[in-house]
Amino acid sequence: QLSSLKGLRSGTLRIACATTAKYFIPHLLGPFCERYPGIEVQFTVANRQQVIDRLEQGLDDFYVFSYVPEGLDIEVAEFMPNDLVAIAKADHPLAQQSQVSLQAFCQADFLMREAGSGTRYSIENFFKQQQLQPNIKMTIASNEAIIHSVLSGLGVSILSAHTLAFGENYDVKVLNVESLPIVSQWTFAWAKSRALSPIAQVFLDYVNTQGRSEMQQAFSL
Ligand code: PGA
Repeated sequence: QLSSLKGLRSGTLRIACATTAKYFIPHLLGPFCERYPGIEVQFTVANRQQVIDRLEQGLDDFYVFSYVPEGLDIEVAEFMPNDLVAIAKADHPLAQQSQVSLQAFCQADFLMREAGSGTRYSIENFFKQQQLQPNIKMTIASNEAIIHSVLSGLGVSILSAHTLAFGENYDVKVLNVESLPIVSQWTFAWAKSRALSPIAQVFLDYVNTQGRSEMQQAFSL
């Protein structure tokens, strides 16, 4: 089916992803757009709640989540794991320990993503299951701002390992904390009520084949 669009000159593919997926979606789109230069891509980056809102309004062909919302009339394709890891500044006391207990981790100042963030949702679920609570010192609505806050000594955090890959070489250390990482699955979702456009169908085929294997190699999963 990929070849059936070879002559395609125009058309639009609309994708909305959670902010944390912005680190790998462009790397998926690169080879795809090279193959189909006539396709225009509209790529929206928002937090999980805003992506759910877009889905409910039917604004895009695909919505990317790391934790699929319940109760929506959608089809899904799991794409690859999303590991949430604990990070600290390299000279933080916890970074000197080869193993960190969850209790010790919960005592450190914690930098949390904003309400509506999928990362926050997963962190909250995790600590609830563990019957513990992180010591939230700041709420920050950006992965990059969290990393810079960790670097400036404001605290520790938990965020997707994808925020550290492909990016700048931040001097943060991934901590070996008991029961971490928190693992979820990046998933492409689309509305059942709307047939996929030919372009969206071709993109989905690409995601499920070459796209997945290239991303898994890039992240050596
Ligand atoms: P977010 O993304 O934390 O940027 O909302 C992750 C997700 O959807 O789970």
